[in-house]
Parts: sequence; structure tokens; C-alpha cells
Amino acid sequence: MGMKLNITAISLLLLLTSVAEVSADTYFDVTKYGAQADGKTDISQALLKAWEAACASPIASRVVIPNGIYALGQVGIEGPCKAPINLIVKGTVRAPVDTSRFQAQAGWVAFTNLDQFTLSGYGVFDGQGQSVWGQKCSRTKYCHQLPINLRFDYMNNSIIKDITSKDSKQFHINVLGCRNITFFQVKISAPGDSPNTDGIHIGRSRGVNVTHSTIQTGDDCVSIGDGSEQLDINKVECGPGHGISVGSLGLYANEAPVIGITVRNCTISETTNGVRVKTWPSSPHGTATEMHFRDIVMNNVSNPIIIDQEYCPHNQCKLQVPSRVKLSNISFKNIRGTTPTELAVTLICSKGAPCQQVELGNIDLKYTGPGGIALSQCKNVQPTLWGTQQPKTCAQAA
Ligand SMILES: *[C@@H]1O[C@H](CO)[C@@H](O)[C@H](O)[C@H]1NC(C)=O
Ligand SMILES: *[C@@H]1O[C@H](CO)[C@@H](O)[C@H](O)[C@H]1NC(C)=O
Ligand SMILES: *[C@@H]1O[C@H](CO)[C@@H](O)[C@H](O)[C@H]1NC(C)=O
Ligand SMILES: *[C@@H]1O[C@H](CO)[C@@H](O)[C@H](O)[C@H]1NC(C)=O
Ligand SMILES: *[C@@H]1O[C@H](CO)[C@@H](O)[C@H](O)[C@H]1NC(C)=O
Ligand SMILES: *[C@@H]1O[C@H](CO)[C@@H](O)[C@H](O)[C@H]1NC(C)=O
Repeated sequence: MGMKLNITAISLLLLLTSVAEVSADTYFDVTKYGAQADGKTDISQALLKAWEAACASPIASRVVIPNGIYALGQVGIEGPCKAPINLIVKGTVRAPVDTSRFQAQAGWVAFTNLDQFTLSGYGVFDGQGQSVWGQKCSRTKYCHQLPINLRFDYMNNSIIKDITSKDSKQFHINVLGCRNITFFQVKISAPGDSPNTDGIHIGRSRGVNVTHSTIQTGDDCVSIGDGSEQLDINKVECGPGHGISVGSLGLYANEAPVIGITVRNCTISETTNGVRVKTWPSSPHGTATEMHFRDIVMNNVSNPIIIDQEYCPHNQCKLQVPSRVKLSNISFKNIRGTTPTELAVTLICSKGAPCQQVELGNIDLKYTGPGGIALSQCKNVQPTLWGTQQPKTCAQAA
């Protein structure tokens, strides 16, 4: 037995040594592939060549964009690869101002089909969104054809850490069809009035964690779309922006259920909403359940706690027909802070599918505007209440 193990160990060692010899170079510096840190020359071909070499490596490898300022066109970084890869971005990469020749919907930098991928390095992805905000796009005109700074599609077991997404032309980060992805110490920044610049949008994914991150932007901090399961948003600082939102749900047919969302130990400041669940009226059937919000500090946040099943911006829907998205098992615990709007807790559930198992405990929200005290509004919901209740949730008739 011992002998057999030894032989296995030795042959494994020999195998590893020979693999290491074949590909001793597991560090792929884009400047060795022609990238120039001049802020003008598009490095996309250099990056793709370095990526191709790394992707073919049978052992773990690193692709590096060193310090400096680089111009980067639209790139698709694709797998599957033979072994784990770490893309280390130390410098600042800048998107083109003119993206008219970009492939629509594809994003600026799109990562697809990777397993055990790490993006790290304290670098900056600068989308240069100032060139489009308020011109082609606005709050009322959504420009979905504009590039998302970073797309992660069909990725598994990957980590995105220490990087910054700045001034995206549209959403900063979009996560679709992923399993087990962690965003750690990610920084997102764009002005509070930049349109449609959601921080991280997650849809049709399971096991996505966002922790120790800072998101300052013009739209939702984190937005959670249909088919999201087992998400954990922990120690995130949001604001300015529109807060953390599940939804909007119920706009399309065949939306997958939302199950298991935890938002905890977050600080939300100067946003138009705090934690929100929103569904469209007149929607197809759908469900969203096990959504838990706890230990959250609100600093001057309008609508700090809000369920809105009559979400209908710009009157794009039939408000008379109730939403058929069923919301259940929702809790808000230990939520405190200040709000400039009188209505601090809003629970507007659907007449067609009233909310079930809603719980609020230790809510302490101070209205800081002129006169009066914080209020709540409730429709089609009978929440379980405990601990501090400021405002007195559902005390007023709907
Ligand atoms: C990710 O996991 C899913 C589900 O297990 C699998 O079907 C898919 O092939 C995996 N993708 C990669 C790139 O490993
Ligand atoms: C995601 O992580 C879980 C728990 O560690 C693991 O069981 C599962 O296989 C992972 N999913 C994929 C697609 O690798
Ligand atoms: C995400 O966080 C949860 C809760 O802490 C943990 O159980 C899970 O393993 C984490 N997932 C990943 C991919 O790290
Ligand atoms: C989360 O917040 C609660 C309440 O503010 C606090 O007691 C707890 O220590 C925090 N947990 C962590 C891990 O920071
Ligand atoms: C409510 O959600 C919690 C946490 O996700 C879960 O443990 C519990 O079983 C759920 N309750 C019901 C009745 O589904
Ligand atoms: C609080 O927010 C409101 C509305 O966004 C704003 O007008 C006000 O200046 C803010 N107050 C403070 C003290 O920042």
C-alpha cells in the first residue's frame, strides 16, 4: 500500500515537473504582446494574444496589464481555458468615446464561459460615459445599446476583486448565467446624475456574493433580476444612486423565480431608495421569496424600505391590473437611520397576489424634513412586527 502510494506520488511529481517545463512561462504581460501604455493605441489585440496564450496553458497562469494608461476597444475574453487564469489589471484602461462601431449588447469588456477565473489588481476600467450621458440617453430614454463596462456571462467559481469600474456608459457590471462568483473590494464610481448606470446587475445566477465594496453611481447600487438565487450582499456601501433593488420583476413572460437574497451590514447614503422590491402591474405569473434585509444603516435615504408592486415608471403599464408576481418570506430587521421623505416604510403589495410572511423588526427611521413624523403605507399585506417600530408600520389605513 505504502509502496503503491509512493509510486503514484513520484509519477505525479514527474508529471507536474514536465508540465512546468513545457510552459515555464505562465506570466503573460500584455506589453510583451505589443501593448503600449500611451493612452492612445488600442491594446485589444495584445490583450487577446496574451489571453490566448494563457488560456492554452495547462497550469494556472496570469495575464498582466501593468501600470500606465491604455486605450482598450471592445473585447470578448472567452473560455473555456485549460487551467485557472488571473487577469491582473494594474493600470487604467479607457474605453473609446465613440462606440458606434461596437457590437450591440456585447459590453465593453465581456468575460464569457470561464471557470476559476480571477480579475484583480487595483486597476481602473474607465468607460468614459460623460460623452453619452444626457445626450443620447436620459432618465426617460434608456439606451440599452450602449456598452456595459464589464460583462460576466456563464462564469463559474470566479472572483472579481480590488478593481474599479468608473463612468460606465450604461450599467457598470452585468452578471448573467453565473455560478459562485464573488465580488470583493470592488469600487464603482459615477456621478449621481448619470443615467442607467446600475452598479452591479445580477440575473439568472446562483451563488453571487458582493462584499466589502463601495458603489457610488446614478442608478441602482445592486439590482437583482429574475432567476437570481442565493445571493449575499454583505458590507457594501451604497450612494449616491437608487439603492439596492430586487426587480423590476414581471415585465417579461417566463421570468425565473427569485429565491434567497440576503442583504446585510450595508450602509446606504443619499439615495432615492434604500432596500426595494419592485414588480410591474399587469404582469405574468412569477415568484420572489426568501428575501432578507438586515443590519442596514440609512443616511438621508428617501424611501428607505419599499415594496412596490405598482411599479410603473412613465405610465408604461396598465395600473388597474394587479401584478401576478407573488412575494413571500421577506424580512427587514435592524434598519436604522434618517430619511428626508415622510413615507419611510412603504409596503404596496398586489391585490391579485398579496404578500405573505412579511416581517419587520427593530426599524428606527427618523424623518428629518419639516414637521411631522415618519409614516408608513401598506396595501395587501399583514406583516409580523416586533421591537422598535419607527414609523409605526401599517398603523395608518391604506
Ligand atoms: C458552469 O457550471 C455549469 C453548471 O454546472 C456547467 O453547465 C457549465 O459548463 C460550467 N461552465 C464552465 C465554463 O465551466
Ligand atoms: C458552486 O459551489 C458549490 C458549493 O461550494 C458547489 O457545490 C457547486 O458545485 C459549485 N457550482 C459550480 C457550477 O461549480
Ligand atoms: C457566499 O456567501 C455565503 C454566505 O456567507 C457562503 O455560504 C457562500 O459560500 C459564498 N459563496 C461564494 C461563492 O463564496
Ligand atoms: C453587522 O451589523 C450588526 C448590527 O449593526 C452588528 O452587530 C454586527 O457586528 C455586524 N456584523 C459584522 C460582521 O460586521
Ligand atoms: C424563509 O426564509 C428563510 C431563509 O431563507 C428560510 O430558512 C425559511 O425556511 C423560509 N420560510 C419559509 C416558510 O419558507
Ligand atoms: C438629504 O436628501 C435630500 C433629498 O435628496 C436633500 O435635498 C438634502 O440636502 C439632504 N440633506 C442633507 C443633510 O444632506
